[in-house]
Amino acid sequence: MPENLQHELQEALAQARGIFEDLHNLGVVSVPVADLPAKLPPCPPDVCGIDRGGTAVCRAETLDEVRADLGDCRRCPLCRDRKHIVFGVGNPHARVVFVGEAPGREEDEKGEPFVGEAGRLLDRILFAMGLAREDVYICNVEKCRPPGNRDPLPEEITACEPFLKRQLAAIEPEMIVTLGRFAAQTLLNDQTAISRQRGKWRQYQGIPLLPTYHPAFLLRNPAAKRDVWEDMKQVIKRLRETRSGG
Ligand code: URA
Repeated sequence: MPENLQHELQEALAQARGIFEDLHNLGVVSVPVADLPAKLPPCPPDVCGIDRGGTAVCRAETLDEVRADLGDCRRCPLCRDRKHIVFGVGNPHARVVFVGEAPGREEDEKGEPFVGEAGRLLDRILFAMGLAREDVYICNVEKCRPPGNRDPLPEEITACEPFLKRQLAAIEPEMIVTLGRFAAQTLLNDQTAISRQRGKWRQYQGIPLLPTYHPAFLLRNPAAKRDVWEDMKQVIKRLRETRSGG
């Protein structure tokens, strides 16, 4: 090693030793390492990653880690007939997450949410908002298709819901838009009819959440598109207001 570099290294070590001695004299026995999150293990679900001494012991999970834990899920009977698990798509750092109900036939075929007729309508809604699928994150309450597109059963929602919550915790979006009654009722734990919930901002774990109608409902009831557009205008407004630096 060149002599000048060796000298610099010795000085840096002496300085570090001095800092640690000062801290020791002040009674400091541990130093939080919250600025090194990548080296920490992912927090287990529902566990806060700080120990009693205020030291970070784990960090937020990533979407990939949540997906890996879901694995080839067998937690409810929907696994029997599914072709693909439909985990979610889009930007892992999305400002807005759209949460639907459950995959239909086309989503089950492709392993991607909202790729059927309702999905094409959702794409058009996003486009009108000035957004693309890649800008947002799209997922569902249930990750597997209920047979014949029937409504999700409570036990299926119970099995799947923790993964939706972990996805939301990983993304930390600025807002959530729920599409249809199952997403709103699940995340808000509120069985109020979607017609009464829609268009009113709520909170999910401190994140603003706006319930609106499901695109499949709009296909059957085109007159309700007007309501959804009013709701989306609220989302656009908030996105503009909270845009960093603007
Ligand atoms: N309906 C949903 O709720 N989700 C999809 O992914 C497709 C249709």
